[in-house]
Amino acid sequence: MIIAIDGPEASGKGTVAKLIAKKYNLRHLDSGLLYRLTGVPLIGQKFNNNAEFEAQAIKAAGQINAAQLDSPPEIARTMQGGVMASKVAVIPQVRDILTAIQKNIAKQKPGAVIDGRDIGTVVFPNAELKFWVTASIESRASRRFAEYQAKGRSDSLAAVSQAIAERDHRDSSRAASPMVRAQDAHLIETSKLSIEGVVEALSVFIDAKLADLKGSSQN
Ligand code: C5P
Repeated sequence: MIIAIDGPEASGKGTVAKLIAKKYNLRHLDSGLLYRLTGVPLIGQKFNNNAEFEAQAIKAAGQINAAQLDSPPEIARTMQGGVMASKVAVIPQVRDILTAIQKNIAKQKPGAVIDGRDIGTVVFPNAELKFWVTASIESRASRRFAEYQAKGRSDSLAAVSQAIAERDHRDSSRAASPMVRAQDAHLIETSKLSIEGVVEALSVFIDAKLADLKGSSQN
């Protein structure tokens, strides 16, 4: 069973993916973290040109292993980490390496809930279930802002909102596997929902799919 949960930054997809995986006893894979881990060694480095940046990013992707997902360095989860992740994510060879890792992890039983940008379109186009989890830019920015404040960071709401808009643009306009809703993904708008409400909304589809699969295995 593969459940693909795609959507833009701060839509709530990561939290909901984790909760859904727990509820249905599936593995959770945060594919964004693979891109963040790839970007971490490049933060603060100077590159003479784009070719140099790309070569370093491809090298970093080649050094990623699944075990790193369990204890990422703190910087991977910062705004800086997200920006660098979206810069390495435009490189097709980086995407190929990270896609192979995702396929490898998710094929292990009993299956997985994977959140990202291209899971339902490119990584697992045949996923049993696909969701597109989104929210208005205002609610996404205030969620991220609250999160950063709780961590004692001083980024202003305007700066957080601008960083989200820039990342949305980079993610949806890149040539390689752009962020886009799969045609068969269920749309979940989370601006006015609590996290429990989002879990409930997804569960309706998942329960129906499980009943369906059970029915067809009995026939
Ligand atoms: O989801 P998260 O914010 O951690 O992702 C960081 C960045 O990694 C995204 O902005 C995007 O550029 C990239 N990414 C991607 N494909 C995925 C997951 C993340 O391109 N499946």
